[in-house]
Amino acid sequence: SLTRSWKKTIKVAVTGASGNIANHLLFMLASGEVYGKDQPIALQLLGSERSKEALEGVAMELEDSLYPLLREVSIGIDPYEVFGDADWALMIGAKPRGPGMERADLLQQNGEIFQVQGRALNESASRNCKVVVVGNPCNTNALIAMENAPNIPRKNFHALTRLDENRAKCQLALKSGKFYTSISRMAIWGNHSTTQVPDYINARIGGIPATDLIRDNKWFREEFTPKVALRGGALIKKWGRSSAASTAVSVADAIRSLVVPTAPGDCFSTGVISDGNPYGVREGLIFSFPCRSKGDGDYEICDDFIVDEWLRNKIRASEDELQKEKECVSHLIGMMGGACS
Ligand code: LMR
Repeated sequence: SLTRSWKKTIKVAVTGASGNIANHLLFMLASGEVYGKDQPIALQLLGSERSKEALEGVAMELEDSLYPLLREVSIGIDPYEVFGDADWALMIGAKPRGPGMERADLLQQNGEIFQVQGRALNESASRNCKVVVVGNPCNTNALIAMENAPNIPRKNFHALTRLDENRAKCQLALKSGKFYTSISRMAIWGNHSTTQVPDYINARIGGIPATDLIRDNKWFREEFTPKVALRGGALIKKWGRSSAASTAVSVADAIRSLVVPTAPGDCFSTGVISDGNPYGVREGLIFSFPCRSKGDGDYEICDDFIVDEWLRNKIRASEDELQKEKECVSHLIGMMGGACS
């Protein structure tokens, strides 16, 4: 119908645009399945000097796909230019980890990228730009970008933990024999790392507590929890590279969760600034919480999750890890240098 073209085109900047994750995500974005079937979109793709040719190839494929909602594809290697007036910045570009590495091993190299790109966002992006950081270590990278972009609201910065939520839902579905759509309130707390806390205590299956259906605490603690937390590494071992397709799907899910109202009583997981959170997590960290949204791009942290002692201790360990990561990048966020081992 004619009304479809009346919506203002949204500008979505994507970094790492010639990489594996983007190669899945960009086509989902262009198809309308993420921002809506009536939402015209412009894609602003950031690459590097090294990936320039590949980036041109990506743009050619997008154009040749004739997506009716795709109004413009632009490419570049200067973040100040590419982030121009962006309503969304999907920050995928970073060095990925290989076999045997932890995500925090990437802290220094990738941290610098996010300092530069944070400054560019501050200068060029829309004042209400929503930022989703995918490149690892994503919580601390999001923190670096946020601290370098004081013109953009702190709460607009997200670190992707939706992939972990999806992995957790998959395991619950397999164990319970129920379809994954019946699983709600599956929160991930903390860092997108091995200290993450997949919260089975508040999770529900078909509306009832997961722990009423799966009466096996040992399974939850000794199998479910590590399986979810170590999934990224297990996948790298299989593929020889990190997950790409499922990551792209989870980025799409994360965006949709912000632009579509959350079902009553449900939540989604996203890493956001901990300032003023209702759970006593230390302020000034990008920390994954259960959140809900009215569908306007904004969100609030759910305040009705039960935190028992086990959960509290796990949350604290992830909090300590994030605090350490933060101290390691103090020089990138204008903080006095902390100790970093
Ligand atoms: C993942 O969780 O699959 C990604 O964060 C990649 C990684 O390093 O594990």
